[in-house]
Formats: sequence, C-alpha cells, structure tokens
Amino acid sequence: MYNFSVNPDRADSGSVKWSAMKKINPQVPSKIVPLSIADMELMTPPEIISGLQAFLSHTVLGYTIPTKGYLHAISNWMQQRHNWTIDHSWIVPSPGVVPALFNAVRAFTEEGDGVIIMPPVYHPFSRAITKNNRRIIENSLLKKGTDYYIDFDDLEKKAHNPKNKLLILCSPHNPVGRVWTKKELQKIADICLSNNVNIVSDEIHSDIVLPGYRHTVLASLNDTIAENCIICTAPSKTFNLAGLQVSNIIIKNDLLRRQFISTAVKAGYGALNIIGYKACEIAYTECSAWLDQFILLIAKNKTLCEDFIRENIPQIKITNMEGTYLQWWDCRALGMTKNELETFMTQQALIFGDEGYIFGHSGDGFERINLACPTSILESTLNRLKTALNKTLD
Ligand SMILES: Cc1ncc(COP(=O)(O)O)c(C=O)c1O
Repeated sequence: MYNFSVNPDRADSGSVKWSAMKKINPQVPSKIVPLSIADMELMTPPEIISGLQAFLSHTVLGYTIPTKGYLHAISNWMQQRHNWTIDHSWIVPSPGVVPALFNAVRAFTEEGDGVIIMPPVYHPFSRAITKNNRRIIENSLLKKGTDYYIDFDDLEKKAHNPKNKLLILCSPHNPVGRVWTKKELQKIADICLSNNVNIVSDEIHSDIVLPGYRHTVLASLNDTIAENCIICTAPSKTFNLAGLQVSNIIIKNDLLRRQFISTAVKAGYGALNIIGYKACEIAYTECSAWLDQFILLIAKNKTLCEDFIRENIPQIKITNMEGTYLQWWDCRALGMTKNELETFMTQQALIFGDEGYIFGHSGDGFERINLACPTSILESTLNRLKTALNKTLD
C-alpha cells in the first residue's frame, strides 16, 4: 500500500501553482494548499525516486537519444494499458504536449487556417492556434444538466468548411472530465476524415480514468483513423513528472510524422533530457500498482467533494468526472460574477483552483478543482468554503 496522506511542502520550491497562489494573495496563511494547475500535491512514486537515484549514481549526463528501454517501455504500456499496438518508429519524443500542440499547428496548417477546438477546454489549445496566426474555430460542448456532450451537427458544419484543417481533441477532456466513448470517437473521426480534417488527439490524461469508464486511444479504432491522427501522450500527469518535460507523440503515418519532426527541427528542438527518458521508462515499467492505487484515491476524493457539496452547498453543481483528476464545479447559482467569484474564492475562502473563464467563455462562473492531493487537504478546503459562504450569505 502506498501512502497518499503525506502532504509535501512545496512553498518556495518554485512550483508554478504555489507561486501563483502567493501572487494572487500574498497574505495567504502557510497551511493553505493550492488546487489549481494539474500536478499533484503528492510525492512522485517511490519507484521513480529510488530508480533515478540508482541511475544517477553510475551514469554520465551527456546528450542522449531515446534508449531502447525507453521506447520499449512506451510500446509495452500502450499495449498493456490501452490495448494499442505501436511500432517504436512511430514515437516522437517532445519536451511537453503543449510544445507538441504548437508544433502540430505549424506542421499541419497554414497561417489563416481554422483549427477546431471544443470549449470549455484546456487553455493552451487556443494559444497554440492564435500565437501561430491561425483562427480558433469553436465547436462548443453542449451542456445538459451536469453532463457535457459533443455537438456533432456543429462539428460537421465546421469540418465541412475547407478552410478548417485540423481538430485538436482533448481526450479525456480537461476540464469537463468526460472520457469519450468509442462511439463518440468514431463519430468525430468519421466527420473529420470525410472532410480532410486531421486530428491531434491530446491524450495526456488517458491513464487516469475512474472505475467504470474506459479510455479508447483514437488511433486504435481502425487503421484509416490511425493514418490521419497524431496521439499526444505523456507520463507526466499520470506519475507527477511534469517538471521533467517528457512527452511522447505517437504518429503512425510516415508523412505526417516527417512533417511534424521537420517543423520541430526548424524551431531548433529535438532531444529530451536523459533523466526524463529514464523516469518515463521506470514509470511505465514499475509503477502500474502505484497508478491503480492513485486512481482509487481520486475516486474517493471525487465522492467526498460530491457528497459534501450536495449536502452543504447545493447551489454548486459538480460535473461527473469520468477521467482526469480535475473536477469541474458550476458555481453560477451562487449569483456572483466571474470576478466576484474569483475574489470570493481567493481572498475570502482561500481556495485557489483554476478560474473557469480561462477555459473559454462557457467556463465563466465555474471553478476547476484539482483532486490529486491527500484527502485531508480537500476536507479542510471544503470546510473553508462552507464557512466563507455562510459568512457572505449572513
Ligand atoms: C490536456 C492537457 N494537455 C497538455 C497539458 C500539459 O502538457 P505538458 O506539460 O506536457 O506540456 C495539460 C496539463 O494540464 C493538459 O491538461
């Protein structure tokens, strides 16, 4: 059994989310833990720490190409965890999925082209499009009650426009937590392929799927789809390795892969860091049991939040999180504007999630709460929220 109750102290460690919290509220007391950006308030798996220590004791930290051990670990993981058979030659290492998205936009579209996304969605998708002088084409998700669905009629229309060349799909979806079904994925692919729209499928959250749900790798649906998509994977969300900047972009089609690599080369980057390769190898070969237990922690934290909010703050509606460890709270019935909500959360309740508006307008009035932390942190967060709301409503 792994111990998920230890709360690492990341204050002054340079952690992005801890530094952001201090910036937003410099008076924040030391016991408050931020629940924003998607890394974990948990120790990295012990197998990775001890494996890297052993590795560092005998290695030379020189320039390194992807090792056989690293490539093998990725293909085995895809086979065993996702039932997807890949060839080592399809794997293109990238120093992060976000750089890969920027690269894909440059590789597969021209300036002025439209790139389709499904908001509310992980905000760097928009940046990858606009910073490269392409146009964002919104195929907004449909919200029915607390659930989200794809608007296929709208997708069909947008894909049919020959100026729209690429879809960036988030699968599972951050922030709404949907794990798209095979049927939904097949329909997305049918629409895109029949309109010559390539798909970049960001599957960085694919290992974190709650009991009762199953992730399907888009490219595993059939060979034609595999030939027309780019699958972005990484051990970073799964095993809390984001600071090592390792991701694995898997591209079956030779031409698309060559285009992707040549665009990266033009930007001057290629190889990853030696510790990242090793950490990825250890994660995928030794940390399955850790991941299985981590998922149970997330399931427990999810239920805790749902039960507490339902009983104590029924105005907030929580979306059913099927995958990821990011819970999407609809706070609109609290009757605050998005700015009032942000001020209330960060200055009164001392809750530092991600503000929903960063994921697009349809996120106004929502909060994204990161559940990858010891359960006790969520208990104190929820109690602070209840107390602060009672004070405001008094
Ligand atoms: C959907 C999605 N893609 C990509 C990333 C970040 O990827 P990377 O750190 O590999 O650039 C995140 C991080 O939260 C994410 O949620």
